[in-house]
Amino acid sequence: TGLVTLDSGFGNTAAYKSAITYLDGEQGILRYRGYPIEQVAERGSFLETAYLLINGELPTVDELAVFQNEITQHTLLHEDVKRFYDGFPRDAHPMAMLSSVVSALSTFYQDSHNPFSEEQRHISTVRLLAKLPTIAAYAYKKAMGHPIVYPRNDLGYVENFLRMTFSVPAQDYELDPVVVNALDKLLILHADHEQNCSTSTVRLVGSSQANLFASISAGINALWGPLHGGANQAVLEMLEGIKRDGGDVDSFIRKVKDKEDGVKLMGFGHRVYKSFDPRAQIIKAAAHDVLSALGKSDELLDIALKLEEHALADSYFVERKLYPNVDFYTGLIYRAMGFPTTMFTVLFALGRLPGWIAHWHEMIKEPGSRIGRPRQVYTGVELREYVPVEAR
Ligand code: CMC
Repeated sequence: TGLVTLDSGFGNTAAYKSAITYLDGEQGILRYRGYPIEQVAERGSFLETAYLLINGELPTVDELAVFQNEITQHTLLHEDVKRFYDGFPRDAHPMAMLSSVVSALSTFYQDSHNPFSEEQRHISTVRLLAKLPTIAAYAYKKAMGHPIVYPRNDLGYVENFLRMTFSVPAQDYELDPVVVNALDKLLILHADHEQNCSTSTVRLVGSSQANLFASISAGINALWGPLHGGANQAVLEMLEGIKRDGGDVDSFIRKVKDKEDGVKLMGFGHRVYKSFDPRAQIIKAAAHDVLSALGKSDELLDIALKLEEHALADSYFVERKLYPNVDFYTGLIYRAMGFPTTMFTVLFALGRLPGWIAHWHEMIKEPGSRIGRPRQVYTGVELREYVPVEAR
């Protein structure tokens, strides 16, 4: 079967060819379909970005209107979906609810089971993009013990999500353009990042020709872990811990350097970026802007800034080329917007959805695409004789 090479964590193995996202980790370059991330975030909207990633080109005004309209028409969830939420415990993590309900969508849309039909791929894509914000908002409502809020067709993607999340019968959520624009930008910055853990998971599950909902549900679970998208929740918890301990960032950094109980500086380091993460630079500036525009000061922001400054001046981090990543400052913005910590990774999932979908489409359409099936280096016992249980 030929020579098998061990590559721990797939550090040097390209498993796929892809035309979606270009990433140069040495120079801190990130491009979606050739467009620099800075320009996409500054000039585009999240839905335009989703269209770009999935279809390969930016939409015209008419194409965008059709896309937006299609998505708006599919934001409702089947009423029976509500019963899933009734069954979840109130303190269930929203990521668990998100992946479960996304997986359950394939029971409601059994026409989604043939990934080779272009029509089915399209309708599943529209349904998923339309429904994920509704699924996410329901998860928040479940945790709060509040009645769910149905989507409204006259609102944009981000507006609708914010309203479904934060409106209560006693008071309609007042949409603030600062919050809407900031969340739209954050979703864009999360929209794709080539073969990260969750995207590779979507591809691996999808390579067995599983349907889109099943593949994306697996991706959501992969994203949940603290070394991946769950880092945004972990960063906030870390900052809160440092605050509780009197705000001493240097003693925390010492613990990290001593690898005490596996403590890591969450929101730092990246497999590919070795000079800076361009998304983190945009988000750091946005954190300042959003907090001051909302008139909020946050002691945790001061701790984060000090932590970054001290870490970047420390040889441990310099030698290992560890810099703030996309997750370091996002939590502070989400917190200022009113999201609880457990919802942070859900927001990452909403942003990453178009990227996952784009990769799933690219894989299905690739001629000669094969099932994903890594090899291994066997380290077990070579051969032994089976002894029946009574003789052991
Ligand atoms: N804090 C302390 N030490 C670290 C950190 C960190 N955040 N990240 C890496 N290191 C050390 C690591 O211990 C190792 O040290 P040594 O050479 O002494 O054994 C060295 O740096 C190389 O690290 P690695 O573990 O080989 O790096 P990796 O490419 O396998 O892991 C990572 C990348 C992102 C999982 C890791 O940097 C990490 O755990 N960071 C914290 C979690 C985090 O912020 N994740 C979000 C990543 S970006 C967005 C996303 O993917 O969702």
